[in-house]
Amino acid sequence: MEQHDRGRTVTSGTSTLLEVDSVYKRFGGLEILGGVSFSVERGEIFGLVGPNGAGKTTLFNCILGIIPADSGRIILDGEDVSRMPVWKRASLGMARTFQRLELFSGMTPREHLLVAYRVHKRNGSIFRDLIGHGIPTREEQERAESALELFGLVDVADTPVEVLSLGHGRLVELARAFILEPSVLMMDEPSSGLDAAETGRISDMLNNLRGSGRSCAVIVEHDLDMVTKVASQIAVLNAGKMIAQGAAREVLADPEVRRVYLGTV
Ligand SMILES: Nc1ncnc2c1ncn2[C@@H]1O[C@H](COP(=O)(O)OP(=O)(O)OP(=O)(O)O)[C@@H](O)[C@H]1O
Ligand SMILES: [Mg+2]
Repeated sequence: MEQHDRGRTVTSGTSTLLEVDSVYKRFGGLEILGGVSFSVERGEIFGLVGPNGAGKTTLFNCILGIIPADSGRIILDGEDVSRMPVWKRASLGMARTFQRLELFSGMTPREHLLVAYRVHKRNGSIFRDLIGHGIPTREEQERAESALELFGLVDVADTPVEVLSLGHGRLVELARAFILEPSVLMMDEPSSGLDAAETGRISDMLNNLRGSGRSCAVIVEHDLDMVTKVASQIAVLNAGKMIAQGAAREVLADPEVRRVYLGTV
């Protein structure tokens, strides 16, 4: 059902948290995304797979608002965010992790979480923080501690991130996205560079997220084993177009998918 609320189009009465509607993107003369559409329900994990250069990261960036789509719409929890900047989409509940690590050297995992949570809750005074009086509240400390526990980061909580392993760094990124309590969590290859135990932690986290029924996630992943375990739906992007979408087992058995993605028929 559509309602018009102060000039915004708000769709209510649906459990769809993210709707991507016919997104097109060209770079130079090349069409990178050729009309991509999908939707993700509350509590659902959506797996996006496809060969190198298929356009997965470009699609992520259009959804997040990092690059503008040429046309198409992005609807976040019933609200059209297509023309909103990144920070506005983030404030409405979109969080992300990066294909390559984006952490602040000199800061520890605990500090990353405290800063993210404080900015998210907007309960800190920037001036007090700047002059070093922004001591974390009890609630902030408890939140950070439970995220550190959930992601297995307690032992390295106070170690500067630049001396951590890639696996730990990736878990810090995930914990930082998770502490924002996002409604839509976007993850670009979260298991790359992780060992089996660390990948297992991500799967556990995604299962928790599904169990909570509040959020949904979109995950780009090359580890097909992992993605088929956690995702309720899988879509295959090839040369900027979705060539298959549905339950993991059916999609991976599709002859076209096997030909372009797995190299087998
Ligand atoms: N800023 C840009 N300017 C021009 N071309 C770009 C830009 N970003 C990406 N491309 C091109 O768009 C295509 C899709 O790239 P993209 O990074 O989205 O693929 P991907 O599916 O994420 O690949 P991978 O699996 O390797 O991460 C590639 O051909 C890439 O060279
Ligand atoms: Mg990519």
